[in-house]
Amino acid sequence: MDDPNIAEKLVEVLQRSDGDTSLRPVHTFGVSATGFFEPSPIAGNFCVAEHFKAEKTNVIVRFSNGSGSATIRDGWSDVRGMAVRFHLSDGSDTDLIAMTLPEFFAPTPEAFLEFALEASPAPYEGQSPWKKILELLHLRLPERDPYPGETISPDAGAIRFADKNAYAQLGVLQAATIGAPVSYVRAAYHAVHTFVVTDPDNTRRWVRFSWQPIAGVLRTDPNKTPVDDYLKQELVDRIANEPARFSLMMTIGEVGDDFNDSSRPWPPHRQRVMMGTLTLDAIPENQEEQCEKLSFNPGLLTDGIEASDDPVLHIRKESYKISSKWRDGSPCPFSRS
Ligand code: HEM
Repeated sequence: MDDPNIAEKLVEVLQRSDGDTSLRPVHTFGVSATGFFEPSPIAGNFCVAEHFKAEKTNVIVRFSNGSGSATIRDGWSDVRGMAVRFHLSDGSDTDLIAMTLPEFFAPTPEAFLEFALEASPAPYEGQSPWKKILELLHLRLPERDPYPGETISPDAGAIRFADKNAYAQLGVLQAATIGAPVSYVRAAYHAVHTFVVTDPDNTRRWVRFSWQPIAGVLRTDPNKTPVDDYLKQELVDRIANEPARFSLMMTIGEVGDDFNDSSRPWPPHRQRVMMGTLTLDAIPENQEEQCEKLSFNPGLLTDGIEASDDPVLHIRKESYKISSKWRDGSPCPFSRS
């Protein structure tokens, strides 16, 4: 039977012992930027949602580090987030939340709960070179060495879980090798789940969205000592000189693709449509209100875009509401009416 408290349990288990309950339990540190989205000339042929038809739609974007630790470690290898809120003309909003991992760790909320429990940050000492060689000989992922100052980590638990559960292997392997971007706007971000878009003829298509940076993807050098805090200032300095841009790509699924499991990739040759360009040209001064307090939600959709039946997407809607309430976020997009 489905656990009625699973949304709450998920938020609880994501809270790290070195986190801060007044902040987000994951994606704790970030920076927001504002700008606008312009649809491509063909976007409206695929989706009737307003931001794919209107000339321009204002947006606010929050970039973040995936970690829930209350210490900023920009230079450490970590998944990054990009939460985009489109402000529609009737005063409502719609969100598209993405991250640098192309696939998620688990197909269901229950499986993710098990994963998150096993990957709870634990004391971290890394592995001896001999143990690493042994792991490689067994075709298992060796642990990386801890960063200076890194005492606890989810890595060992995540690898242990992936050794037992094939569905987690792609996500864990990708997360283990993801590194750090030189800039929040030099990374590609994936919304991971499948959404259903409706076109003007009422044809429905099962699609996945991702943001591609116009400046290209570039990571820091993994052999250099990581810098703790540079991503926010880098974005401020960059945008003071010129706007940052992303293309929104939409991949169209075909019969046989997994529509309800974001841990499974689709074949690489699926049709991709360029849906529009995002331009970021300002950094809100009040980052407390316009970034830290903001509450995004993957369930905040609009006419023309629906959630697929992916159970992880559905539980996220509830978990993000709970998290926003617990950390006193303002406003939770579902508590306004
Ligand atoms: C069951 C699965 C998941 C759970 C329980 C979960 C939970 C959470 C929670 C509790 C927050 C903080 C929300 C807040 O306080 O406002 C959060 C933030 C975030 N999550 Fe997830 N998450 C899940 C899956 C994912 C997936 C698949 C993605 C990839 C698109 C993702 C990307 C993000 C991002 C980018 C943020 C930061 C949003 C912001 O800037 O406010 N999460 N997640």
